[in-house]
Amino acid sequence: MITVKGIAVSQTYEVRQPVLRQGKPIESCFFEGDDLPTTFHYGLFENEKIQGVISVYENENILFEEKEQIQIRGMAVLEKNQRKGFGQQLVAHCEMEMMSQNKKLIWFNARVTAVGFYEKMGYSIIGNSFDIKDVGLHFVMYKKLRN
Ligand SMILES: CC(C)(COP(=O)(O)OP(=O)(O)OC[C@H]1O[C@@H](n2cnc3c(N)ncnc32)[C@H](O)[C@@H]1OP(=O)(O)O)[C@@H](O)C(=O)NCCC(=O)NCCS
Repeated sequence: MITVKGIAVSQTYEVRQPVLRQGKPIESCFFEGDDLPTTFHYGLFENEKIQGVISVYENENILFEEKEQIQIRGMAVLEKNQRKGFGQQLVAHCEMEMMSQNKKLIWFNARVTAVGFYEKMGYSIIGNSFDIKDVGLHFVMYKKLRN
């Protein structure tokens, strides 16, 4: 059985570390703003075992004029369970939650390798690619939410 639900930040490390910070210490999985009351973490569970995570932060990007923006970070699905629709379910859950909080726009820094995934979910690139040290090339991507 698949469920998506709110989780504590500590539960994200089990997925963040092997997928996003492979071979790096656990501290590399601590993101700025993780503990703020305005930050939310969601996990996808298969038979009660966590398989994927996503986090959302209240963070405005000057590229957009919308006031109610949120940033996605820490989007990851365990490698053995990628391409099974789990990532899509996590993003969809997050969008639904953010719409219910009246947020207007979702944006994030997407790894070049994940751009195709987000495009399938209706996100667009804005601007040129840029490098994030130790992680690689990224694009800013966004989607306006209907309210
Ligand atoms: C990117 C990631 C989150 C996608 O999650 P996932 O569970 O594998 O993706 P899904 O199975 O839900 O895919 C949904 C659709 O996107 C496609 N897709 C998935 N990953 C893709 C990719 N990297 N490039 C292009 N398309 C992709 C799938 O084929 C599927 O298409 P379909 O509906 O036509 O079948 C996951 O592969 C991952 O954790 N990758 C490593 C970490 C990472 O890059 N995170 C994002 C950082 S910005």
